[in-house]
Amino acid sequence: MVGMDRPFRSLTRRACLGSGLALAACDRAARGQPPARPAALPPLKAVAPFPVGSSVATDQIADPGFAALFAANFSQLTPEWEMKMERVLKPDGGFDFAAADRIAGFAAATGARLHGHTLIWYAQDEAPAFRRIDGSPGFENAYRNYILAVAGRYRGRAVGWDVVNEAVAEDGEGYRDCLWSRNLGPDYVAKAFGYAREADPGAVLFLNDYNLENLPKKRATFLRLAERLLAQGAPLGGLGSQTHLSMDTPPGAVRAAVADLARLGLPIHISELDVSTRSDRPSLMSPADRLERQARLVGEAAEALAALPAGQRYAFTAWGVRDKDSWLIRPPRGNPGEDHPLLFDDAGRPKPAAAAFAAAVRNRR
Ligand code: G3I
Repeated sequence: MVGMDRPFRSLTRRACLGSGLALAACDRAARGQPPARPAALPPLKAVAPFPVGSSVATDQIADPGFAALFAANFSQLTPEWEMKMERVLKPDGGFDFAAADRIAGFAAATGARLHGHTLIWYAQDEAPAFRRIDGSPGFENAYRNYILAVAGRYRGRAVGWDVVNEAVAEDGEGYRDCLWSRNLGPDYVAKAFGYAREADPGAVLFLNDYNLENLPKKRATFLRLAERLLAQGAPLGGLGSQTHLSMDTPPGAVRAAVADLARLGLPIHISELDVSTRSDRPSLMSPADRLERQARLVGEAAEALAALPAGQRYAFTAWGVRDKDSWLIRPPRGNPGEDHPLLFDDAGRPKPAAAAFAAAVRNRR
């Protein structure tokens, strides 16, 4: 498989399909540590009635422990960074797909579905190749060519794309102002969906956003945008709720958000789940309390997705595999050991959140 990392080549799919215990032991053995305590948990993808995904970055796939743990437990991946404009579009307008191709190769080698992320995002509108033509007549053509080049490259390999990410204003009052909206108007969203469909007739095309659980007003604006896109005939195929949660996320908020988002009848992607365990709440000072609260929130999210009709369960994606893989503990946001946001600990052992996920979806297949 082109672009595969050497450490990963040595891991055949068969070797990767061992139990979570074997793989965690593999990771710990590779690090000269004693075997982990028995993990009674089956691989997550074996118990879930929908694809179980994780974000993946190129530095992670070079780590045999990560690769084995991912391959055993996950059936879908989202490139954490490598398919974004800031990585693929060079200042001269050319493309560098080397890192993105490595991630796509890792997906193919592990038999995981590939979910593309993300074509158009307000946070990536500093791209010199676009800034240079800001306000010029050729802007829309360049916008279309960008989407055709990126989504077209993974045509037939990406099962879905986050076509537009975070279009709704932070507080839910309307939509974000960005280079795309200033040059193309609010229809930059519908145009992006049209060009993505032109690039890939088969991919499920998503609108993706965050804080849809704790800001009902933002969720309402997000749903109004989705309804407008559908009314315009845009090929909107699914709704992504990033689901970045915290110790302060109220019980029931995730369930309510998923049910509300699902009322349009589109597939739902819990697209970037993590649950930060940082909290200055005295009542949650104990690590065990935090992990228990995290487990309850992960179980709620998994249950909410599993409760949807099968056709609306696109995937459940965590934004990382092991705590140490999380963006939340990478500078400048944080430092190693300061947060424990994911389903597996640094040694690759399943945490209470992983057990809560399995319990929530068991018998839903
Ligand atoms: O790997 C390069 C390194 O070689 C280089 O020296 C360094 C210079 O800045 O950059 C490194 O790349 C960084 C990359 O993460 C890989 O770690 C980029 O700077 C940094 O911008 C990038 O941050 C990503 C961020 O999105 C912006 O793209 C995070 O990893 C990623 O977790 C985060 O994910 C976002 C979702 O796409 C959208 N939802 C929110 C989520 C969290 O912010």
